[in-house]
Amino acid sequence: MAKPVSEFVCQTCGHRAPKWLGKCPECQGWNTLTEEVTRHSRGGGKTAGNRNSRANSADPSVQAVTQITRSQVDRVSTGILEFDRTLGGGLVPGSLTLLGGDPGIGKSTLMLQSMWAMAEAGNRVLYVSGEESPEQIKLRAERLHCLSERLLICSEICIENVLGLLEKIQPEVLVLDSIQTFFTEDLQSAPGSIGQVREVAFKIFQECKRRSLPVFLIGHITKDGAIAGPKSLEHIVDTVVYFEGERSHAYRILRTIKNRFGPTPEMGVFEMTPEGLIPVENPSEIFLSERPADTTGSAIAATLEGTRPLLVEVQALVTASTTLGMPRRMATGLDHNRVTLLVAIMEKRLDMSLQGEDIFVNLAGGLKVTEPAMDLGVATAIASSFQNRPMDPQTVMIGEIGLTGEVRSVLQLEPRLMEAAKLGFQRCVVPHTAKKSKTLGKIKMELAFVKTLAEALEIVL
Ligand SMILES: Nc1ncnc2c1ncn2[C@@H]1O[C@H](COP(=O)(O)OP(=O)(O)OP(=O)(O)O)[C@@H](O)[C@H]1O
Ligand SMILES: [Mg+2]
Ligand SMILES: [Zn+2]
Repeated sequence: MAKPVSEFVCQTCGHRAPKWLGKCPECQGWNTLTEEVTRHSRGGGKTAGNRNSRANSADPSVQAVTQITRSQVDRVSTGILEFDRTLGGGLVPGSLTLLGGDPGIGKSTLMLQSMWAMAEAGNRVLYVSGEESPEQIKLRAERLHCLSERLLICSEICIENVLGLLEKIQPEVLVLDSIQTFFTEDLQSAPGSIGQVREVAFKIFQECKRRSLPVFLIGHITKDGAIAGPKSLEHIVDTVVYFEGERSHAYRILRTIKNRFGPTPEMGVFEMTPEGLIPVENPSEIFLSERPADTTGSAIAATLEGTRPLLVEVQALVTASTTLGMPRRMATGLDHNRVTLLVAIMEKRLDMSLQGEDIFVNLAGGLKVTEPAMDLGVATAIASSFQNRPMDPQTVMIGEIGLTGEVRSVLQLEPRLMEAAKLGFQRCVVPHTAKKSKTLGKIKMELAFVKTLAEALEIVL
């Protein structure tokens, strides 16, 4: 059989060329050609024949949905409860999971800890690293106390060799660290190029389904997802989880953004320590633990990620701007555009003159939240700093703010309120639409229903 030939395909218009070109002759796009394996070169005639016979309803490859026998999906524990929860209750056999994150955030640490736990539970685990030598991995495993006979380590970057290993070793779980370092012999481009990343993932995908083998792919992502490699994998894999956090903070958030076997978004919280990652049982408590007492510009908001409510502290600092006409607006952990919008609403609807003020808003603990239910917390923190009046520290703010300054309802208010009550908060400012809700009766907390941002400020400032 002839070796599959590769060709270069424009990702914009589909133009095919035998060699790489900087500019696509068809659509004139620059840098749009990516190397791909020419699949039709593998005996195209035969496939056409198959397709004809498929028109026949007696073809065994076609089944009525009611006839399909489904083996009971037994999820396997990853050995880390917080990780299991993020995946929707454990690992599904034959699932392909992409674990993305910034360089150095702790991806290999999480994988090693989880794979060790799986090995200790009796699974044969194969951890293939294209980045680190077995000695380096051993060092980490010793530091994390993750040594197990069934945890098999291998340094390899050729995907064909990895597939060969699967045949020999028959592992029950496989990790590739990281997808950008592997290459297939079918393509000439360098490891890490889009073509390579996609082809390697495709080969692993087929193997993963054929063997019903759960596979983790680790992928580096830059802040804006600029390295297109892993981003372009998102539609191939079953599950995409991102590991994020500020490297200067100890907390790490594991976030599921796509899951064919469970709900999204879902999240887990970990603390990074020299002995490895430790799941955080009560994240709200930790994120609020450093909250200063009786200060201005600090508000508590309740956010919800998947099934998990989380109380967070929003901090705002409003100071007279030194640069005339160009006040600064900075948001850390929050959507910058959303904060700018809230400031505009406050100027227009509350007559606050914020034009000459620098405004900095920050989520404590290195968290990132983009939910609109945070609006009320953000706006009240800004107002508190601007007017130099501390907010009631026992009140939690929940609500989205509309363009007219109205407070709008949020999804799933109840779990947020229950979390606030659990942590001992005495009062919650909530959208007035919640009054109609029948399920809020059992919440042991004072609820202040507000229609507008102005009403909310009257209550807490
Ligand atoms: N000796 C050590 N003591 C304490 N913490 C350490 C030590 N070595 C590494 N770490 C922590 O582990 C983090 C790196 O973890 P890890 O290698 O799992 O990240 P990664 O996401 O796989 O990185 P990469 O992008 O390099 O693959 C460091 O940022 C640091 O916080
Ligand atoms: Mg790593
Ligand atoms: Zn083109």
